[in-house]
Amino acid sequence: MNKNSDISKKEVVLKIKDLHKSFGDNHVLNGFNLELYQGENLVIMGKSGTGKSVMIKCLVGLMEADKGTITVMKNDITKLDREALDILRADIGFLFQGSALYDSMSVRENLEFPLRRHSKKFKKDTDTEGLVIEALENVGLANAIDLMPSELSGGMKRRVALARTLILQPKIILYDEPTSGLDPITAKEIIILMQNIQKKYNTSSLIITHDVDCARVISDRMILLIDGIDYAEGTYKELSASEDPKIKAFFKQEL
Ligand SMILES: Nc1ncnc2c1ncn2[C@@H]1O[C@H](COP(=O)(O)OP(=O)(O)O)[C@@H](O)[C@H]1O
Ligand SMILES: [Mg+2]
Repeated sequence: MNKNSDISKKEVVLKIKDLHKSFGDNHVLNGFNLELYQGENLVIMGKSGTGKSVMIKCLVGLMEADKGTITVMKNDITKLDREALDILRADIGFLFQGSALYDSMSVRENLEFPLRRHSKKFKKDTDTEGLVIEALENVGLANAIDLMPSELSGGMKRRVALARTLILQPKIILYDEPTSGLDPITAKEIIILMQNIQKKYNTSSLIITHDVDCARVISDRMILLIDGIDYAEGTYKELSASEDPKIKAFFKQEL
């Protein structure tokens, strides 16, 4: 069966429509659109400085868009009050560019932090330590529980950050450059972890990257962010075979 027609029948869990964002004369996003389907790995690829992080920050409410709508699991996030937004946020995991661990907290405390922040999502008698251990086991780091971030390698930090994202059992995971700054072998390990997590929890993932290799391995579908818009959409195979000069140059330059 055709994979694409299969996917198009799926439920849309996240939708961005006509997103605009400028900083003074710097028009970064000029009408960007995307739809993320339940259970898929959607990769947004764009060169450095094209607005990928800006897009994801608008999505999680860290930045205010100039125009456009963002719908998450049928809720228009611009219309939600603080409390409703907070509840929805607990269903969205966000892996920041870099790892953004709290340096003064141990691995355990870093993982407990989101549990405390979103305590409403869990029952009162929830086994917090069990959740922390399970999240660390998912990324192969159960024995690092009492280490401090300064004692971890770059790859381990990224894994802990991923565990911290997973601990809230999000339905949607947003990854901003999950492999950037890592050596190729560690990058590959992180990609494998992301795939395992997707399979285990059937999460829907939006993966922002400029890493062509990462996109090739992990994407079910891709959107190319060029000139502030969703310039092209398709599978890796389709896009990398495109004759469009902008798309072609893009793949050539990145490889
Ligand atoms: N807070 C900000 N203030 C002003 N300009 C910003 C801000 N954040 C991002 N930009 C600009 O927006 C553009 C896109 O940035 P970004 O989304 O970080 O790119 P990338 O695609 O590499 O993630 C860049 O030109 C950047 O300088
Ligand atoms: Mg970025």
